[in-house]
Amino acid sequence: MKYVPIGRTGVYGSVLGLGTMTFGEKNLQKRGGVRQEAADVIVKKAIDLGINFFDSSDIYDGGSSEEVLGKALRDYRDQVLIATKVRGKSGVGVNETGLSRLHISQQIKKSLKRLGTKWIDVYQFHGWDNVTQLSESIDTMQRLVEQGLVNYPGISNFYAWQMAMSQTICEERNYTRFETVQANYSLLNRDVEHEILPFSKHSGMTVLAWSPLHGGVLTGKYGDLTDPQPGTRMRDFAFPVRGGYFPPFDIEKGRRILEVVKSVSEEQGVTMAQVSLSWLIDKRVLVLLGARSIEQFEDNARSLEIILTQEQKERLDNISDIGKRYPKWMVDRQNSDRKFSILV
Ligand SMILES: NC(=O)c1ccc[n+]([C@@H]2O[C@H](COP(=O)([O-])OP(=O)(O)OC[C@H]3O[C@@H](n4cnc5c(N)ncnc54)[C@H](OP(=O)(O)O)[C@@H]3O)[C@@H](O)[C@H]2O)c1
Repeated sequence: MKYVPIGRTGVYGSVLGLGTMTFGEKNLQKRGGVRQEAADVIVKKAIDLGINFFDSSDIYDGGSSEEVLGKALRDYRDQVLIATKVRGKSGVGVNETGLSRLHISQQIKKSLKRLGTKWIDVYQFHGWDNVTQLSESIDTMQRLVEQGLVNYPGISNFYAWQMAMSQTICEERNYTRFETVQANYSLLNRDVEHEILPFSKHSGMTVLAWSPLHGGVLTGKYGDLTDPQPGTRMRDFAFPVRGGYFPPFDIEKGRRILEVVKSVSEEQGVTMAQVSLSWLIDKRVLVLLGARSIEQFEDNARSLEIILTQEQKERLDNISDIGKRYPKWMVDRQNSDRKFSILV
C-alpha cells in the first residue's frame, strides 16, 4: 500500500480508501445492501492490504452504513482513520438536515454511537448549506474538535470559493482548518480540475475522490450505455431516483472514453476498472473505492499494481480532457513569465 499525507496534519492515509456507501442492513437507497457478514470480509481484506482510510456518512442507508462499518472495524480502531459526514437529510423533521448547530450537534452523537467510537478522525460537511451561516457551522465544528470528538474537519461538494471562505474563517479565528475535500473525480468527470484541485493544492488539502468508477460505469458493464441491466446501482437507484446515470456525464463523450479505457485494458490484460482507478491514483488523490462484493473490491484494489505507460496515460488524458475554461487560459497566459505561479 502507498500512503498520502492527510492535509497538513502529519497523519497519513492509504492512497486507496474504502467507501462504505454500499454498506447497510436495510438497503434503503438500493445502492448496495452489503450486510454485516459481507462487510466484515471486505473490511478485513482492506486491512490486510494496508488500507487505513474508511469513509461513511450519517445518511448512508439511514445510518446503517456507519453501524456496519463500526462493527467491522471494532478490532482495528487505533490503526485506522474513520471519516464520516453530516449535512444530508437525516430524518423527516424540517430541521433534520443542513449544517445548523442544531443538526450537526444531533448528528455527531448519533454517528459516534453507530460507529461505536469516541472520536471521528475526519468529520466532513457533506455539502454546502444555502441557509445556515457558514461561520456558525464552522464554529460548531471547532467545538467538536475542542471536545475531542473530531480530529480533523473536512469538506465535500463545495465550490472552490466556498472552500476558500471556510479556510479564511478558520484562519481568522485561529480554528482547526479543513484538511480534506471530498469531490467527484473520475475519467468521466474531471470538473474538479478547474478550480477545486488548484485550490486544494494551494491550501494543502487532500482530495478524496468519490465515485472513482463513476458508480460502476467505468467498469464497462453498461455496454453502449443505452440500458443499464437489473441488479446494478444504475438500474435500481440512479435511473428511478435521479432520472438517469448518476453521477451524470456526457453520454457521447463517455462512449469515446470507455472505448479508450477498453483498449488500454486489453493492452494491459487487466480490467477496465483497474485502468480507470490506476489513471486516478496517478492524479495524486486519495481514491475512495466502492464495492458491493468482495470480488468487486479485490478487482478494484488490484489497480495499485498496474503501471500505465506514458502513452496510455496520454491517451486517457486526451480523450477525457475538459479543456481550459476562463479564467485559466488568461491566468496561465499572464503568468507565463512568473516562475512560482501557484496555479497548475
Ligand atoms: N461525498 C459525496 O457526496 C459522495 C458521493 C458518492 C460517494 N461518496 C463516497 O465515495 C465512495 C465510493 O463511491 P462509489 O460507491 O460511487 O464508487 P464507484 O467505484 O464509482 O462505484 C461503485 C459501484 O460500482 C460497481 N462496481 C464497483 N466495482 C466494480 C467492479 N470491479 N466490477 C463491476 N462493478 C463494480 C458496484 O455497483 P453495482 O454492483 O451496483 O453495479 C459498486 O457499488 C462511497 O462509498 C462514499 O464513501 C461520496
